[in-house]
Amino acid sequence: MKSFQTERWTVDNFEENLIKHPHVIQASLWIKQNEVVALPTETVYGLAGNAQSDHAIARIFEAKGRPSDNPLIVHISDRKQLKGLVSSIPLNAQKLMDAFWPGPLTIVLPKGKDVSEKVTAGLSTVAVRMPNHAIALAVIEASGVPLAAPSANLSGKPSPTTANHVYEDLKGKIPGIVDGGSTGVGVESTVVECTDETVTILRPGGVTFEDLEHVVGTGNVMIDPGIQNEKLAPRSPGMKYTHYAPDAPFVLVDGSPDFLQQLVDKERAAGKKIGILTTDERVDFYRADCVIPAGRRENPETVAQHLYEALRSFNEASVDQIFGEVFPKTGVGVAIMNRLEKSAGGNIIKEQ
Ligand code: TXA
Ligand code: MG
Repeated sequence: MKSFQTERWTVDNFEENLIKHPHVIQASLWIKQNEVVALPTETVYGLAGNAQSDHAIARIFEAKGRPSDNPLIVHISDRKQLKGLVSSIPLNAQKLMDAFWPGPLTIVLPKGKDVSEKVTAGLSTVAVRMPNHAIALAVIEASGVPLAAPSANLSGKPSPTTANHVYEDLKGKIPGIVDGGSTGVGVESTVVECTDETVTILRPGGVTFEDLEHVVGTGNVMIDPGIQNEKLAPRSPGMKYTHYAPDAPFVLVDGSPDFLQQLVDKERAAGKKIGILTTDERVDFYRADCVIPAGRRENPETVAQHLYEALRSFNEASVDQIFGEVFPKTGVGVAIMNRLEKSAGGNIIKEQ
């Protein structure tokens, strides 16, 4: 694999005329050479390359160590770029774009003639989104092409929400990281399929079931059964892989804080170093070797925001095992629990 001195290009998100910022231009020059760079979006950092270049797409898969049957999301800064990218736009897809773009909603549409098979992993559909982040939009615009961008982590690791996380995973493998600070939403975009007038959620995210129903009407939003039932294959190829996993074994605990503490005490008595993933409200309650709050339980958006950072910090603490709390599966809690269940590989202990 080609190696690079991975540079860090700091950009202030609030600066005006970002398209002329020297670091934005630098990133876009690499993209024009069909190399790949990391950049912030409002969800997580992405690893971006020219969506029209098979060379760039190959570099993305190589740097991440991503299985080639997992398609990429194409990021645009202007709806004019949809021409050639998609072959049709159902009315409900149009409504979703009006309501949520720019924003954390990826829409899977019938693929257009200009999209490489490498991007879509041979599927007849393509995933598209317009990120709500000034730096990401400026880099797309400066590059002059739509950008294919998966999350900028090594395949299987938690997605990066800071430039440091990207550096940990991809140093030496990419020419640079546009550093725009911490991302906002913290979990990846909601992915919906909308190839006809039915909207099917393939991956839960910051835009919730209720948000979608509000726009396209009650009864028009489905959830892919494959993301809730282990026995069925999910429709989105990426959802079948183990994901977001910290280094130590991770178990979710569906029960009271007392019950969780008892499980921890037992393992510590056996000499194990234990981590607990909790919330601000309960951080003082627990005794363990490393107790990390992701955010506030009463405000689940803050949990989504810091979830991956919290999962990554257990690696630094070198714990032998992690126990984590569960969350109600409502609103953004659906996305939080989807990611937690994946990082625990489905391991849940239920209090009787
Ligand atoms: O928030 C996000 O979506 C971030 C930022 C960087 O934009 N990107 C991201 O990309 O999460 P990635 O590659 O980590 O996840 C893309 C997901 C995968 O599960 C993939 O299988 C699915 O979208 N996907 C892509 N194209 C698809 C298609 N045509 N049909 C079904 N699923 C698709
Ligand atoms: Mg990813």
